[in-house]
Amino acid sequence: MEQILKATGLQRIYKVGKTTLNVLKGISLEVNQGETLAIMGESGSGKSTLLHVLGGLDNPKSGKIEFKGQSVYNMSAAKLARFRSRNVGYVFQSFHLLPELDIVENVALPAMATGSRKAAKLRAMELLNEVGLSERAGHRPQELSGGEQQRVAIARALMNEPDIIFADEPTGNLDSRTGEKVLNYLFQLVEARGHTLVLVTHSKEVASRCSRELFLKDGLLI
Ligand SMILES: Nc1ncnc2c1ncn2[C@@H]1O[C@H](COP(=O)(O)OP(=O)(O)OP(=O)(O)O)[C@@H](O)[C@H]1O
Ligand SMILES: [Mg+2]
Repeated sequence: MEQILKATGLQRIYKVGKTTLNVLKGISLEVNQGETLAIMGESGSGKSTLLHVLGGLDNPKSGKIEFKGQSVYNMSAAKLARFRSRNVGYVFQSFHLLPELDIVENVALPAMATGSRKAAKLRAMELLNEVGLSERAGHRPQELSGGEQQRVAIARALMNEPDIIFADEPTGNLDSRTGEKVLNYLFQLVEARGHTLVLVTHSKEVASRCSRELFLKDGLLI
């Protein structure tokens, strides 16, 4: 299998006042194209920190990240932003939709800067259809339930056909039935298109749907 992401010796330290938190203590990890990888671990073990570092949203203190053989670590801010919007999709626990935009605009947003707005909206409508929300296209996020908002966020993450999708407890704010429905959409979309998924979760059940599970403990992956 082809490798898509390779991280070597990632360290991340938080300093608050006199306290130093050694959250990531030299993490190395390889992710293959098309795999779905679950990252588990106790609350506070550094799962979100690791996901942010892997996804180029946060800088490690030391270590290297290569994406398809290209080093992400030394990129300028502008190049990194371009790289992220072309290659990476994110789904967060708290949806992160923009309240002033309607649903179709939220989904289309990642493609608005680059291509034609019309084409972006058409594709956004197709994705909304796939997550069962096309009839809500003109609604604002706050008019939707939590589970519906997360389905919108999943559609948005897929907008630019990213090679890899990072999801941080995407069902953490949802009840278990709604969460399962949202996960079904996520896995269906990801697996049908052969996207790579890195998913942070507390739930063994959710993790077991992934092709591989890793556990973060004391700053290291086991
Ligand atoms: N910006 C920050 N400044 C200082 N400490 C931080 C910061 N972000 C996270 N931490 C600390 O780093 C540790 C790891 O946090 P992180 O959010 O990565 O954990 P997590 O595994 O995602 O937890 P949860 O399951 O509760 O989401 C925690 O002890 C947290 O308090
Ligand atoms: Mg977290």
